[in-house]
Amino acid sequence: ASAAAYKLTESCKLVLQGGDITIWRKDGHSDAIVNAANERMLGGGGVDGAIHDAAGPELRDACRELPLVEPGVRCPVGHAVETPGFLLPVARIIHTVGPMYFKSSRVKAAALLRDAYRNSLELAREKGVKFIAFPAISCGIYGCPVDEGAAIALDAVHANAADFEEIHFVLFDGSARKAWFEAADKRF
Ligand code: AR6
Repeated sequence: ASAAAYKLTESCKLVLQGGDITIWRKDGHSDAIVNAANERMLGGGGVDGAIHDAAGPELRDACRELPLVEPGVRCPVGHAVETPGFLLPVARIIHTVGPMYFKSSRVKAAALLRDAYRNSLELAREKGVKFIAFPAISCGIYGCPVDEGAAIALDAVHANAADFEEIHFVLFDGSARKAWFEAADKRF
C-alpha cells in the first residue's frame, strides 16, 4: 500500500501507510510496534490476535507473567505495558488498551484514547525507542469512529513526539486509511 510522509515536528517524521503492522520494522533494536490489546493482555481478535500469532507463544507466556493490577487486569484502559517482540522483527511491543466507545461517554472515551497514545509514547521513550508504529487504536472491535480516532491519534502523537525520529501508523482497513490521510493532509 502507498505511504505518505509528513513533517510532524522539527525533528520527527510522521509516516502513514496501509498494511499489516506485524511485518513492520525499522532497525530491529530501537523500534517498537504498539498493540491495541485488552486489559487482560492474553490475546484476542483484530490486531491483537495478529500480533500474538506472529510473535509466537512466548508472547502469551510473557504477558501471563506480568503482574495483575486488579483481578483480570494487567493493563488498565489508557495505560501501556511493554514486552519484547519475540518472533516479530521489532525489538519491542508496547501494549496499550483503548477505550470501548460503546461503553462510556464520548468525552471520557476521547480522553482515555489520548492517554493510550500518550502513555505508549512515554513508555517507548523511556526505553530508547526511536521508531514506533501504531495501529488505529479502538477503531475496530472497540467501536471508535475513524474520523475521531484519526483526530485524536494525530493530536496525541504531535504533542508527544519529542525524542522520536519517526512515528508511523499502519492502517489495515480502508476506512481508517482514508480518515488518517485526510486528517494529516489537512493538518501537516
Ligand atoms: N495490522 C494493523 N492493523 C490491524 C491489523 C493488522 N494486522 N489487524 C487489524 N487491524 P482492533 P480495538 C486494525 O479491533 O478496536 C481485540 O480483540 C483494524 O482494522 O484490533 O482497539 C483486543 O484483544 C482496526 O482499524 O482493536 C481487544 O479485546 C484497528 O486495527 C479489542 O480487540 C483496531 O482494531 C481491541 O479493540
